[in-house]
Amino acid sequence: MTESWATFGADLHLELGTGGQAGGAGGRGVRAGLVAALREAVRSGRLAAGTRLPSSRQLAADLGVARNTVADAYAELVAAGWLTARQGSGTRVAARPVPPARPPERTGPAYSLVPGSPDLAGFPRAAWLAAARRALTEAPHEAFGYGDPRGRNELRVVLAEYLARARGVYADPGRVVTCAGFVHGLQLLGRVLLDRGVRAVGVDPYTLDIHRDLLAGAGLTTVPVEPSELPGEGVGAVLLTPAHQFPTGSALSAERRAELVGWARESGGWLLEDDYDGEFRYDRQLVGALQGLDPERVVYFGTASKSLAPGLRIGWLVVPAALLDEVVGAKGLSDWTSSALEQLTLAQFMASGAYDRHVRAMRLRYRRRRDQLCAALAEGAPHVRVSGVAAGLHAVLELPPGTERSVVAAAAGLGLRVEGLSRYRHPDSVRPPRSALVVGYASPPDSAWSPTLSTLCAALRATGPHGRRNSSPPGGAAQPPGAGRVRGAGPG
Ligand SMILES: Cc1ncc(COP(=O)(O)O)c(C=O)c1O
Repeated sequence: MTESWATFGADLHLELGTGGQAGGAGGRGVRAGLVAALREAVRSGRLAAGTRLPSSRQLAADLGVARNTVADAYAELVAAGWLTARQGSGTRVAARPVPPARPPERTGPAYSLVPGSPDLAGFPRAAWLAAARRALTEAPHEAFGYGDPRGRNELRVVLAEYLARARGVYADPGRVVTCAGFVHGLQLLGRVLLDRGVRAVGVDPYTLDIHRDLLAGAGLTTVPVEPSELPGEGVGAVLLTPAHQFPTGSALSAERRAELVGWARESGGWLLEDDYDGEFRYDRQLVGALQGLDPERVVYFGTASKSLAPGLRIGWLVVPAALLDEVVGAKGLSDWTSSALEQLTLAQFMASGAYDRHVRAMRLRYRRRRDQLCAALAEGAPHVRVSGVAAGLHAVLELPPGTERSVVAAAAGLGLRVEGLSRYRHPDSVRPPRSALVVGYASPPDSAWSPTLSTLCAALRATGPHGRRNSSPPGGAAQPPGAGRVRGAGPG
């Protein structure tokens, strides 16, 4: 076989065994085996209609049989209608009768205000593509090998500069470890803490259930720490979202920050700072990272999931010196190292200033959305108090006590998916449950935004003080999706 045979064309996997033997010895036997194998591959759907088969010359060379054997097999299958052969377009799998159309799948709700996602349509495709092109062009050969479990140095250097400048983090590139988003970082820390003998991690009474489950999966118990208390006996670390508490939306006060850092220093505990949306603050200067208060007791977690997109699966940790080797060891055992090309692309994206530009543009967009949400609620559901809106991509809508479930159900009935605050409440919290919605306002597409807001207001009115479910609120019954108007910019 010459080199050109080995490199030309496409591979085709065929099970030749039985057909060849069944067909008898010699060329005819091989041909029969080939015909049977190709027919089976088409019949089973493995080779889809339209798939181009290798030329008879190439397949013959690949199988080590005479070219005529393959040509004859193709001809037989063309004659039988399994394949088509047309000059210029080669031999292809023939179209088969189209199966009767299945009834359309049931689709989900028309609108969604479920929190957690940024505006995916706002992903900066052109700038990311330019960064990816530069990254691929400039990547040294060694970037395609097994790298440092901490991640690419190019990215760690740029991240350290950015985090110090924009988030007030004490970040030495040597202390930065890249990972696949916050959840991956939390898994790594969970393993490290467990190995160090930690058994319980404190969390806010309202937290993302997924993160509690993740810690439980790592073998750690989560314990609610009420805002007025210090972590109890046996708690070895506390998970926090200081810049914008998820889901309640408050910022950790300066006093509480100092109190918790004091606890960590005295008890030898660790603070795990989840800075998931710290870039998006609307009312004043950004709230700096807690890590800046004590880089040796706070593990800082950052992510590209809100600032860019969760699908990138890129996050980063800044790790206290005492934990660094253990975290790097856990990272090596987890996935060895994150994808080098994605990291190099993000490094290019940040170094070029595109990250800052993107964050600033999105901050404006999200702020506008937040203002429109507040204006729509002030007009359409004035009995609802909105909180947690100074930052981030979600708001908390305080409801009359005991109405959360009925609002969620009313919204679902109108085609809108919303989440209640109760989903996030730690089952061991001693606080009385609050009735509220957690509304993510970043992700609805522009075309759906106005009807989404109208539907939300309709659901709130239907269950509000004057309009218990199924009774008409003053001014008319709950309006269907699409009704009503959203005003432009509201309160700043
Ligand atoms: C509180 C909180 N932390 C972190 C994240 C980001 O997680 P990841 O980086 O794994 O996508 C989210 C995303 O929804 C979140 O809500």
